[in-house]
Amino acid sequence: MKIGIFDSGYGGLTVFDAIRKEMPQYDYIYLGDNARTPYGTRSFDVVYEFTLQCVTKLFDMGAQLVILACNTASAKALRNIQQKDLPRLGADKRVLGVIRPSVEAIGRFTRSRHIGIFGTQGTVDSGSYPIEISKLWNDIKVFQQACPMWVPIVENHEYDQPGADYFVKKYVDSLMAQSPDIDTVILACTHFPILLPKIRQYLPSNVTLLGQGEIVAESLKDYLTRHSEIESTLSQGHSVKFYTTENTEKFCSMARLFFSGPLEVQHISI
Ligand code: DGL
Repeated sequence: MKIGIFDSGYGGLTVFDAIRKEMPQYDYIYLGDNARTPYGTRSFDVVYEFTLQCVTKLFDMGAQLVILACNTASAKALRNIQQKDLPRLGADKRVLGVIRPSVEAIGRFTRSRHIGIFGTQGTVDSGSYPIEISKLWNDIKVFQQACPMWVPIVENHEYDQPGADYFVKKYVDSLMAQSPDIDTVILACTHFPILLPKIRQYLPSNVTLLGQGEIVAESLKDYLTRHSEIESTLSQGHSVKFYTTENTEKFCSMARLFFSGPLEVQHISI
């Protein structure tokens, strides 16, 4: 059995890159729903429907465990899939998201207990980060900033151009205006690490900026250590297969930005 990685498109490759570096021994299948991306602007019901279809596909293709590398899917679909669909899809199957590991990590970094979240509109509107943080760290105050222009800036290769500075500064300033005591910020969207140099440039230097790749990879490693009933089912052939719902050439040209390893991509219909 394999580990499935799901994202609305390319962005989950930033998370997968870190997972594969941490645990290269397993067999992985990555599915990017590029034909229907972005998810960040879509309604709860649509994100749930699309994510469930992709998770089901990954299970059909031999995944035992699926990681929702997409924050929007983790925010809007994970709970429903875990509670409503998994019993039907297979009691021995697992689906994990990126929000819980990020929330666990953030409490260990912040001293001021004022933290910031940059996410898509969907992730911010879902309230998933504040809800999860309040369950685990009830002394932490959460300030959120939706950054709807950052995904298109990355997808249109404008991430290192001077035009990107306007929208990076705008959202950074808008977050910091909510509380000057914010000392830790999480990039709660798969695309945002690509903008990291510019985000760093506009954030006050005392603010710690957390990406999710390493956090999710370490959390998955820990999960597999604690769940030998899942780990023992995973094959260890060091293989990686990529599937996209879009055109494969289009996927490859863009995927390079997010992933450093070899890319063997096939088209798939959902
Ligand atoms: N993968 C999405 C996320 O992490 C960003 C791209 C999209 O909106 O589909 O929220």
